Amino acid sequence: MDHFQFKDGSLHCEGVALATIAAAAGTPTFVYSAATLRHHIRALQAAFAPIDPLICFSVKSCPNLSVLRLVAAEGCGMDVVSPGELQRALAAGVAPSKLAYAGVGKTHTALTEAISLGVGCLNVESAEELELVARVAAELRQPASLALRVNPDVDAGTHRHTTTGTKATKFGVSPARAEELFERMRDHSFARLEGLHLHIGSPVLDAGRYAQALDVALALIDRLQQRGHAIRTLDLGGGFGADYETGQAPTPDAYAAAILPKVLPLKQRGVRFLLEPGRFIAANAGLLLLRVIRTKRESGKTFVICDAGMNALLRPSHYDAFHFMWPVQPPAGLVPTHRTTDTGLQPLETCDVVGPLCETGDYLALERALPTMREGDLLAVFTAGAYGMSMSSRYNAQPLPAEVLVDGGTATLVRRRETLTDLIAHEMHTAPLSA
Ligand code: LLP
Repeated sequence: MDHFQFKDGSLHCEGVALATIAAAAGTPTFVYSAATLRHHIRALQAAFAPIDPLICFSVKSCPNLSVLRLVAAEGCGMDVVSPGELQRALAAGVAPSKLAYAGVGKTHTALTEAISLGVGCLNVESAEELELVARVAAELRQPASLALRVNPDVDAGTHRHTTTGTKATKFGVSPARAEELFERMRDHSFARLEGLHLHIGSPVLDAGRYAQALDVALALIDRLQQRGHAIRTLDLGGGFGADYETGQAPTPDAYAAAILPKVLPLKQRGVRFLLEPGRFIAANAGLLLLRVIRTKRESGKTFVICDAGMNALLRPSHYDAFHFMWPVQPPAGLVPTHRTTDTGLQPLETCDVVGPLCETGDYLALERALPTMREGDLLAVFTAGAYGMSMSSRYNAQPLPAEVLVDGGTATLVRRRETLTDLIAHEMHTAPLSA
């Protein structure tokens, strides 16, 4: 459920017409709905209430500061994977104790900062990283609460670029290695290995895959407990799906039904739980608002050329991802009831929706049936709130889009559009390099 709806034939975000936003902010612009963000957070909180997890919003999915502030105000913590994301979470007012910090490449500097701040759950991804973490914690003489990321070797059934829980990927350690590392750290004075972290991929549309991964983790926890290691934290990661097409993703209750029976006994033993959702919360809370530059008809094909393409939304080109899209002010009778490839509406024209970049991979949709699109029309690309702006680029010297957050009847510019001057600012002053 989200708050992007057609009212009187024109697409609105909550109480504000997208056409009004385009007139005021220009295009391309990402538009977020505050009510949708809140709704998704509350739905997850309700579904997982029996284990009362700390919901750590995955900053990488939608890192805009105003969005993070809103998420923090709902009581969420955050999942961060770099000093830059950590800075954003702190700037949004999140307490370090409510942060989970993952990533295979944390440096000495990053770990020093994380441990000094007292990050709530530092997720360690390798034996080599654990060695460094232990050294840094000892240097600082500061205790660090650590969770070891376990790679359960479970295929999440998603795109190969976003599968993270199989042996072939760079993430986490095997259960056997985990046992060895818990033994190694048994008496360390500062590095406290007391949790496990799982994240098998994104999106995981088969809730049963979580159960499979949990079976591996629970067997490991049993073996660890037999050896006298207490597991205090279980970070279940992210990966919950979102409806790119209406009805495509499992509901929070369906995910909870697969996960809760496995973990409730741990809850009764006092284990604390973390979830790291990004896409579930943000994807359908945002769309990308574009303007058609022109429609080109050539060699039997129709190309709808928009003012942004893969530079603003990389997902179709990078993952073959489907994003529903529709004109903001469609002709009468052409208002879709479902977001899907075949809307059942007539008449439509099959077209490739492309951006202005000089690359054939610069597309948002291929062979898509849409109402006839004309120069100047506004096009809304749905489900773009997660991994949209955060993966956008300046390729072809395109300035990054603006971002607008709508709350009820109020629209706020939460990131100004980059200017051409911004694009060259870092290259205006050159300096000789001294060693
Ligand atoms: N936790 C960890 C450790 C992660 O690596 C990720 C995502 C998440 C949580 C959040 O996953 P989510 O709940 O959003 O599915 N760019 C890709 C998605 C990459 C996800 C990377 N890690 C896409 O556009 O589909």
